This record gives sequence, structure tokens and C-alpha cells, in this order.
Amino acid sequence: MTEDYRIRRVGQCTFDSPLDSAVFTDDSEGVLIDATVSGYQRARGEPPYLEKAGPREKIFFDPAASRAALVTCGGLCPGLNDVIRALVMVLWYRYGVKEISGLRYGFEGLVSSYNHEPLVLTPEVVEEIHKDGGTILGTSRGPQDPSLMVDFLQERKIDMLFTIGGDGTQQGALAITREMEKRDLAISVIGAPKTIDNDILFTERTFGFETAVAMSQIPITGAHLEARGVKNGIGIVKLMGRESGFIATYATIASSDVNLVLIPEVPFSLEKVFAYLEERIMTKRHAVIVVAEGAGQEHVPPQGTDASGNKRLGDIGLFLKKAITEYFGKRNLPITVRYIDPSYTIRSAPATADDSVLCFQLGENAVHAAMSGRTGMIVGIWNGHFVHIPTQLAVKDRKKIDTSGLLWQSVLDNTGQPRNLT
Ligand code: F6P
Repeated sequence: MTEDYRIRRVGQCTFDSPLDSAVFTDDSEGVLIDATVSGYQRARGEPPYLEKAGPREKIFFDPAASRAALVTCGGLCPGLNDVIRALVMVLWYRYGVKEISGLRYGFEGLVSSYNHEPLVLTPEVVEEIHKDGGTILGTSRGPQDPSLMVDFLQERKIDMLFTIGGDGTQQGALAITREMEKRDLAISVIGAPKTIDNDILFTERTFGFETAVAMSQIPITGAHLEARGVKNGIGIVKLMGRESGFIATYATIASSDVNLVLIPEVPFSLEKVFAYLEERIMTKRHAVIVVAEGAGQEHVPPQGTDASGNKRLGDIGLFLKKAITEYFGKRNLPITVRYIDPSYTIRSAPATADDSVLCFQLGENAVHAAMSGRTGMIVGIWNGHFVHIPTQLAVKDRKKIDTSGLLWQSVLDNTGQPRNLT
């Protein structure tokens, strides 16, 4: 089935852009979904593509008469404040939008009964915020009634809403867009995909991911040193990432000290893991394991869901620690296990320089998209370009690691672990 990559607009663009840009992007410009030669040939001259992001020469909203609102939802993520700052600066200085509200505590901030009064955002308010992790707006998990949220936006005469968040947030944004469609409102809703998990479809990299990978290097190095510091040492590091193994995978390759990485996409049997570990201990006298929090849920079944509808994952890290200790105990092979769970520390840090660049460009392109009247979309990166992705496509599923692809091959080449763990 071919997907619909078209982006909805709230109306015709009639205003000239106030931007001094040498590179206005033409509406017909696109970025191929599959950039390989074989993919192009398979598409027989009609390759599917995503709309290219960037400033438009004609815009829909009159900047001087427009009001913008922004909201951050879900878990913390490095770069939230960078995106807030970028949105405010580009709206204010490049387009001249001077009424910008920062909605408090996620979608709660769009429901009047919570009484979370919005923050008035100006360049002075956001000037220094990118230097800190967290979000100056606060956040919350869970959906709210789209009809109440649209009432709020209508009452406050908001023209464009920027939703900074992951999968759950963009699902909420989609519900808001649908309610607006029903009411025939010309309000733009533009998403900035945020998550350390990097699990958003049609976007190569979400902001915060790179920082989380960088922050994971500290515990992995610690685990390696601890494991090597004793005879038969085994260091185990558990990393976040929910049901996708991107953080664990990238952190493993970056570190090059890891001997076994377990991710949700690769099922494993304890027997195979023990056999591999025993061989490693007998030959090298130490081992480092990285386990993604979503790995091995067949051994520690998840228990219910959280407010955002995400599975409450079983604790595979502690399970493994116990199972490995017991196994080597039974084999009369003395080992020392050092277990490290850096938990939230990898996501509460300020963004790395590279993530900050991504955040600025995401924010900038989100503003261009909103000013040109686009809606029901998120900004992402595809084949190295910023693109517009229909929100309904982005939230259809979660991005996972293709274990038959070259990224996973790099993991096998880097760690030396067997491909098949069952
Ligand atoms: O989605 C981001 C994330 O940090 C996941 O990696 C992790 O499983 C989850 O959020 C933790 O969320 P909470 O803030 O609800 O504990």
C-alpha cells in the first residue's frame, strides 16, 4: 500500500514572507523516501517522497497579528529548552510574532480546569535556558480531552501550536488537529519530535538521542573499569530506550568496550547468554554487558501501562544480575558482578553541541512550517534533509532496529557477540 505523504494546509498563503532568505524552499520540492539506486529503479519513475522543510516565500499567517503557543510533554529529554528558545527567537526576530505563550505541564496546560497560567515567552525569558537540561515549561504524561484543549486554544485566539514531544505527544497533537478540522479552524499544529529513545518513524534522529548516548559512555566506562579491576569481573549497564534498542546499540558501538548488548529487537535465551559469557570469562577474565530496558521482556513480563499508555517494563537489568550470579555460583566459578543503572541521568542533561544544532534547526523549520499554514505534521530529518512528515504516519508505529541491517552488523563486528542468541 502506498502511504499518503501529503501535508495538510489551513489555507492559501497570501502574505509575503518577512524573511531575508536566499533559499526559499519551493512547495514542490521533496526528499526521496528511498535514496538508493535500486529503490529508485523499483519505484519506476514515481518514487515516494516527503515534502522538504524550509522557509516559504509566501506565508499564511500575518506575523504581526498572530499568536503562537508551545508545549512540552512526556519525559524529560536533552534539548527541550533549546527547542523552546529556537521557536521563540525565530518567531520573534525573523517573523515578528510577538505573542508567544509557553503552556505549562504538558497537555494539562491546555485544559482550563488545571489553572496552569501560561508563561509569557520573550527573547529575554529564553535567552539562557538552553544551557540547562529539563524544560522551563514543565511537563506531564498522558492525554487530555481534545475538545477541551481546542476550546482553550480558541478562547486564547492561538493561531499556531507547537507540540514538543514523543509518540504519545504527537498522538495527542493529532487528536487536536482532528478536532480543529471538525470545527473548521485555521490553526496550525506542528510537532517537534523529542525522545532519547529515537523511536519516531520517518525521522532519522530525534533530538536528545545523541546526548543520551554520550551520557551513557560514563556508566559503560565505569562498568568496564570495574570489571577489569577484579578477576572474572562482569559489568552490567542498563539503559533506557523503551521498546527500541537505539540507545543501547549506539552507546555500545561508541564505547567499543561492550562484549554483549541485549536489545528488545533480539530475543535471547539465558542458556545462550550464559554460554557466551562463560567462554568470555574463561578467555578474557572480564565482560561488559549493556542491556536495554526493553530487552528480554519474555523473561520479565511487563506489568500494565503508564499514563501515556506505554508498557511498564519488567526489570531485565536486575533479573540478569541475579540470573548471572546464580549461574556462575552453580558452576563454582567465582565472579564479581558490578551493576550500574544510570536511569534518568542520561536524559536530564543539557544537550550536546550536535543535539543543540539539531534542536535549533528543528525549531526553525517548525516555525517556517507553521507560518506557511501547514498543520498535522512533524518536522524530521530524512536522508540528511529536514522534511515535513504527516503526524498520522509518524505515530503509526515505533521505529525499531532492523537486525538484518548494517547497523546491527556493526554491533556484531564491534562486540563479537553471536548473531543468534536463542
Ligand atoms: O521515552 C523516554 C523515556 O526516558 C524512556 O527511555 C523511559 O522508558 C521512559 O521515558 C521513562 O519514563 P518516565 O518518565 O515515565 O519514568
